[in-house]
Amino acid sequence: MLVRLRDGREVRLKRAERGDSEGLVKFWRELLTDPTSFRLFNYTGRVSDPDTVFSRMRESGSYWLVALHQGRVVGDILVKVGPQFGQHLQPHVAEMAYGTASEFRGTGLIYAQILFGCSQVDTKYMMAYVDSQNERSMAVLQRLGCEKRATLEEFLLDRVKNQYRTLVLFTCLKKKMESEAESELKRKLVEIRPF
Ligand SMILES: CC(C)(COP(=O)(O)OP(=O)(O)OC[C@H]1O[C@@H](n2cnc3c(N)ncnc32)[C@H](O)[C@@H]1OP(=O)(O)O)[C@@H](O)C(=O)NCCC(=O)NCCS
Repeated sequence: MLVRLRDGREVRLKRAERGDSEGLVKFWRELLTDPTSFRLFNYTGRVSDPDTVFSRMRESGSYWLVALHQGRVVGDILVKVGPQFGQHLQPHVAEMAYGTASEFRGTGLIYAQILFGCSQVDTKYMMAYVDSQNERSMAVLQRLGCEKRATLEEFLLDRVKNQYRTLVLFTCLKKKMESEAESELKRKLVEIRPF
């Protein structure tokens, strides 16, 4: 999928391949030093090496997608079917984790990433756990029609800061999320087309 942002920058969204694993790791290292990033690796303080990332890309039910701008990874979205109970018992639910490089935030790129992520799976629901301090991520999910299902106090231990984190669980009908993402892309004058 090709994304043309309002400012004219073009970003390509695609399934990650072996050749993307180094760029993906580099992108995650940037997020590692970003105090406004709340990915799981922000709580461990380290990211996996490219070979480990590549082997995880091939796990069944997991979809790893990258956003590329001028050959650089500027965003990613990981979508996993059957996140808690496996694909056999939970084929209708997919969990998402995502991020966008700081210079692409506020452009609408994240809505294209989520729309592309949704298109990879045939589930009824999408879900995400979000740190209760991650205002931007919660705003994105709420704008996409997701509902806050639970506030999970002290659900995760941040090993870097040695403190418990509260996570908020969001779920949404995938169809609703897709139509809201399309509306948001139109509102932000972001054009998308197949690549
Ligand atoms: C989370 C993330 C993907 C959101 O993408 P984004 O491009 O920043 O999202 P938006 O600019 O659309 O921001 C969402 C909304 O949050 C609100 N917002 C922005 N900054 C905010 C702040 N500091 N406090 C509260 N709300 C804020 C705004 O309403 C904004 O939308 P608008 O400016 O279009 O009205 C991106 O910020 C990111 O990559 N963060 C680091 C990685 C991360 O934490 N990932 C999430 C893991 S669950």
